[in-house]
Amino acid sequence: RMEVVETLCGINLPGHLHTKESLQFAQDFEFRDNDVVIVTYPKSGTTWMQEILTLIYSKGDSMPAENIPNWARAPWLEQHYFKDLVRNGSGPRLITTHLQYRFLAKALGRSKAKVIYITRNPKDVAVSFYHFHKMANFLPDPGSFNDLLKKFLDGTVSFGSWFDHVKGWHNQKNAVNIFYITYEEMKMDLRGSIERLCNFLHFPLLPAVVDSIHKHCTFTNMKDNKMANYTLIPNEIMDHQKGKFMRKGEVGDWKRHFTVEQSIIFDNIYEDEMRGTSLQFTW
Ligand code: PPS
Repeated sequence: RMEVVETLCGINLPGHLHTKESLQFAQDFEFRDNDVVIVTYPKSGTTWMQEILTLIYSKGDSMPAENIPNWARAPWLEQHYFKDLVRNGSGPRLITTHLQYRFLAKALGRSKAKVIYITRNPKDVAVSFYHFHKMANFLPDPGSFNDLLKKFLDGTVSFGSWFDHVKGWHNQKNAVNIFYITYEEMKMDLRGSIERLCNFLHFPLLPAVVDSIHKHCTFTNMKDNKMANYTLIPNEIMDHQKGKFMRKGEVGDWKRHFTVEQSIIFDNIYEDEMRGTSLQFTW
């Protein structure tokens, strides 16, 4: 395991990807009005959205999605590997971030950059994150699912509290040009989700193009695209014997992982944390 950890106001981040400088770079970033920023808590549909937006802006041409790795098409703002890629992108730059709102409020407030915020049922996020911890050597050893779940619920997991992330980014329509969507909506109606995204982006596409993007971005299709499934990452960083990044791509897999007791504990904490917010999930 790569033990180096970077911290940002008490939030642990993999040191392999983040440095003090890269985190400062992100907070001072000069967004352009035509930037499109994908914002997620990890495991909420980041890669999926990177693929959809790549194809929207290529008008359905699959060349970039099949020849350029997702992290080069929509680089992470706060990861030190991508500084130059982020800065030097042209056209509508696609930028990805896992940072909480408070760290980007100032930088985003200076621009009209379009922000897309994806939320996923946090029980499924916890399950996906647990499996990802097993294969990602830049994250701490997760121990048992129960161990990881505890850290997820008290916010000491890498990338910080899911609750803080979601609460920070929600209700920001007045401050930021933001579009909210959930992983579950994308699963239920991918085609409709692509159309709604095109509307938000003011980037209309012909129905046949939307059809081809829809086809390209299903889980079955995307899991075999090596430019999106992370199999290009060497085994020392992501151990492909221990799991697959494109694991299941389902809604409700938490039901196969949570005990009744874990689910009750989760629901109680969720209720406490989310009181007064308008977020609703079906679970
Ligand atoms: S990361 O590490 O934060 O970038 O991960 P992220 O991409 O946000 O989340 C990974 C989960 O998203 C699933 N995934 C998809 N689901 C449905 N359809 C498509 N096309 C798709 N692409 C990725 C991926 O399988 C991970 O979820 P789990 O539940 O682990 O399968």
